[in-house]
Amino acid sequence: MAAGKGSRLKSQLPKVLHEVGGKSLLAHVIAAATRVVPPQDVFAIIGHEAGRVRSAVAHTGVNFVLQSEQRGTGHAIMVAQPALAAYDHVIVLSGDAPQITPQTIAQLLNFHLDQQAAMTLLSADLDHPTGYGRVLRKNPRSAGVQAIVEEKSATSTQKQIHEINAGFYVFAVPQLFSHIKKLSTANPHAEYYLTDMAQVLRQARQPVVVRKTENSAEVLGANTRAELSFIDYQIRMRKCEQLMSEGVTIFYPVTCVIDNDVEIAPDTVIEPFVQILGNSRIGAACRIRSYSVIRDSEIGDGVLIRNGCVLEGARVERNAVLGPYSHLRPGSDIGEGAHVGNFVETKKIKLGKGSKANHLTYLGDAEIGAGVNIGAGTITCNYDGAQKHTTIIEDGVFIGSDSTLVAPVRVGKGAYVAAASCITEDVPEDALAIGRSRQITKESWAREKRAARKP
Ligand code: UD1
Ligand code: CA
Repeated sequence: MAAGKGSRLKSQLPKVLHEVGGKSLLAHVIAAATRVVPPQDVFAIIGHEAGRVRSAVAHTGVNFVLQSEQRGTGHAIMVAQPALAAYDHVIVLSGDAPQITPQTIAQLLNFHLDQQAAMTLLSADLDHPTGYGRVLRKNPRSAGVQAIVEEKSATSTQKQIHEINAGFYVFAVPQLFSHIKKLSTANPHAEYYLTDMAQVLRQARQPVVVRKTENSAEVLGANTRAELSFIDYQIRMRKCEQLMSEGVTIFYPVTCVIDNDVEIAPDTVIEPFVQILGNSRIGAACRIRSYSVIRDSEIGDGVLIRNGCVLEGARVERNAVLGPYSHLRPGSDIGEGAHVGNFVETKKIKLGKGSKANHLTYLGDAEIGAGVNIGAGTITCNYDGAQKHTTIIEDGVFIGSDSTLVAPVRVGKGAYVAAASCITEDVPEDALAIGRSRQITKESWAREKRAARKP
């Protein structure tokens, strides 16, 4: 169920597309579902901003059911009837509860089949149950359920119940659809509540049972910004704990933001206030200093990333040193042992083994060989206003400070470029290129000027 608007989030973005742990709520739930059944048997019920939701998760291969008017969770399942008719049982998941695990879903299904139930619901004991539906058991020791009562309809005694309805169910399909028409909208939200099926089925003498999960965190729904941020925190803390158990040092983990799919090898040290996002992979024995943000990048072993670096879509080979304050944009490929220093921006470049660009430089669309020294303030002029051009700098080249290399241009192996040169023509191997006007020195000029100014 992913059709709701999520009014409580006060957002333009549909609720299920809000992100926790670096992924949308719905993407988390679909990931869990597709580890229990194949994607072709998963149906996402979409409605509010359906097009946007569909395109966000279409790559998962699941099917979609359109609930064009959102008249409650019961109505969502009514709309899905044609899609579900061919199945014996249906697992119903809430698209806004992202921590659900495949194990719990599978256990719920097995329990349902064992019990030969018409409806099985997942419950949890919460310290703060406010807002959730409460489970009314027939008696405290049996799994039989009498009803689920929603917060708004609960009596003050019922509000004392800590066992909540998690919003995950298994139904026997024939029983579900032969009774679903009995749902009504006679409730404070004027909606069809799927939760009312518990009472409907019980009154039809169909078995309704509950299974409680021990891990109450996994059922939390993200209905408000505060809940969203708390769930995000829980997911990220679990990720840090997993990484630490695998040999990664994370100082002050509450300040670090590490997405779920990130991989980090042992003995790497992550300092406070670091973000590692998307599909990043970090090698062993690296050190990532504070305030660096790394997205979709691959970092080899033994790399030092000093403070404040920003990497996106970059590859950095072993023992390279970056920063402080380097900006590696997509397509940056930094070779083994290379150095990229302060205020250096790179884009779509290869920087060869052991090469250095340590200060105040822009390197874009460049192929730079091994053992090259790029002086402070060097700029590759890669853009002519219409097209991008490539700069080639071969092995062992020395580029003097404050040089501009107007692409397309090639500097041959072992060549020198004098400081402050503007290089517009290829430089042959082992040559020296000086692309600046000669210095003029006027002896005594300053003294004479001062003397002339005196009254
Ligand atoms: C629901 C349950 C409540 C339970 C809680 C657990 C009902 C009536 N109540 O409340 O007992 O404790 O979940 O998190 O079901 N949706 C649709 N179509 C609709 C309405 C909702 O697809 O017409 C989707 C929403 O996008 C959401 C999910 O169903 O992903 C649950 O809806 P929501 O409004 O969040 O229900 P809760 O008030 O949280
Ligand atoms: Ca909810």
